[in-house]
Amino acid sequence: MTETANAATATSGDKTRKRLFIKTYGCQMNVYDSERMRDLLTPLGYEPAEAPEGADLVILNTCHIREKAAEKVYSELGRLRPLKEEKAAAGGAMTIAVAGCVAQAEGAEIRARAPVVDLVVGPQAYHKLPEFIANVHRGRGEALQTEFEVEDKFDALAAPARQIEGYSAFVTVQEGCDKFCTFCVVPYTRGAEWSRAVDQVTAEVRALAAQGVREVTLLGQNVNAYHGAPPAGREADGPWGLARLVRHLARIDGLERIRFTTSHPGDMDDDLIAAFADTPALMPYFHLPVQSGSDRILKAMNRRHTAADYLAIIERLRAARPDIAISGDMIVGFPGETEADFEATMELARAVNYAACFSFKYSRRPGTPGAAMAGQVDEAVKHERLLRLQALLGAQQEAFNASMTGRRLPVLFERAGRNHGQIAGRSPYLQAVHCDGPDRLIGQIAQVEITGASRNALSARLVPEETRAA
Ligand code: SAH
Ligand code: SF4
Ligand code: F3S
Repeated sequence: MTETANAATATSGDKTRKRLFIKTYGCQMNVYDSERMRDLLTPLGYEPAEAPEGADLVILNTCHIREKAAEKVYSELGRLRPLKEEKAAAGGAMTIAVAGCVAQAEGAEIRARAPVVDLVVGPQAYHKLPEFIANVHRGRGEALQTEFEVEDKFDALAAPARQIEGYSAFVTVQEGCDKFCTFCVVPYTRGAEWSRAVDQVTAEVRALAAQGVREVTLLGQNVNAYHGAPPAGREADGPWGLARLVRHLARIDGLERIRFTTSHPGDMDDDLIAAFADTPALMPYFHLPVQSGSDRILKAMNRRHTAADYLAIIERLRAARPDIAISGDMIVGFPGETEADFEATMELARAVNYAACFSFKYSRRPGTPGAAMAGQVDEAVKHERLLRLQALLGAQQEAFNASMTGRRLPVLFERAGRNHGQIAGRSPYLQAVHCDGPDRLIGQIAQVEITGASRNALSARLVPEETRAA
């Protein structure tokens, strides 16, 4: 990681303090990228600002997954324009950058439509931000850069340098996607699938653990397709899969919990299922999107698995780790979805019995095959189906949480609670847990007894010190 840190500092020039505001939309990948951009810009003198007013640099890190995503960006840019003018009137300058997936998808159009934007930068080019910003400052040339680069952006991005803000951190291990589900923009916005090397990920996680981070969530659009270069000295192994990476990271001192997201059913292998049984640090919570319970719709979605394939994976996971909590994603109203197809989705949800599940109305993404398909479903029908599905999934989540009452669970306390004297954290099953307790437990795992449950959280009391070891 030394080279990466040097690469970032080597670009530093102007050390005067500047204010940086980043607004992040979309998935955890963007949250992670925003933090890396912040780290990358710190050596240039940028300090985080809470609001765009008066900022020297504003970055909108955008998401393109929903319809009208681009429109939201344009209206945000409209709100920034007077702020930019105010700053100019006061003799300063506000640089406005659009990053993320809208930048990738709409590149040049953004600058044409919104002259207030100085810089458009796609996810593959963040390591060049200092250079682009310098270009803007010099007021010269084209600063547009959204092309995919062969060069590894992680080589240039700084290793996480922040002081601890939390005890749970996200680490990107894989990016991009080659699956081309017919509803999804990610293969177009994030490009082809690729994985970071095991050593690179390990160094980043080790640095986080040394700063006090107790839990990491490994991120990837298709994280279980991970196939990173093996560690130095282990070249003969060939690429390592996710299970091997997880077991390797589990040995890092101080790191107690590992999670990963998001997985695709087609990339499940026996080794990953076995890891849930043989690696205690791998938490018993698994997010495995299915999207639909109808084989006909799954085929139209190009998911490359059936409902039965999915259920068989869940069964094997439960055999390996009986208490595993399953979560997922579902889409209702994909083109051609009939009432019978929707009922198959409800049936699959009943069969799985989710601990948590996200559900969405199909939204037409320009440029994806789904958008051009016949049989687009009426908005009112989508809405009504979503309500029915959410009633079922909500009841399942509530029942899952209620089943925790009276149980003892280890909780990683991450922050002070809403009320004075309260602390809050997460159960192994990713449930939010609130309980009365001393601040000194923040950053630690402690045993609690669950005293109550709602759809979205658990309440608990600390198990007395004496019994905690048991
Ligand atoms: N790579 C992950 C996440 C993709 S986006 C995966 O393969 O699951 C996260 C979720 O958004 C998807 O699982 C899907 O349920 C939902 N989604 C993506 N595109 C959508 C669209 N056009 N309309 C509605 N929901 C969508
Ligand atoms: Fe999108 Fe499908 Fe790839 Fe997930 S697997 S990112 S839903 S194309
Ligand atoms: Fe959105 Fe891009 Fe993530 S489209 S969901 S921010 S990969």
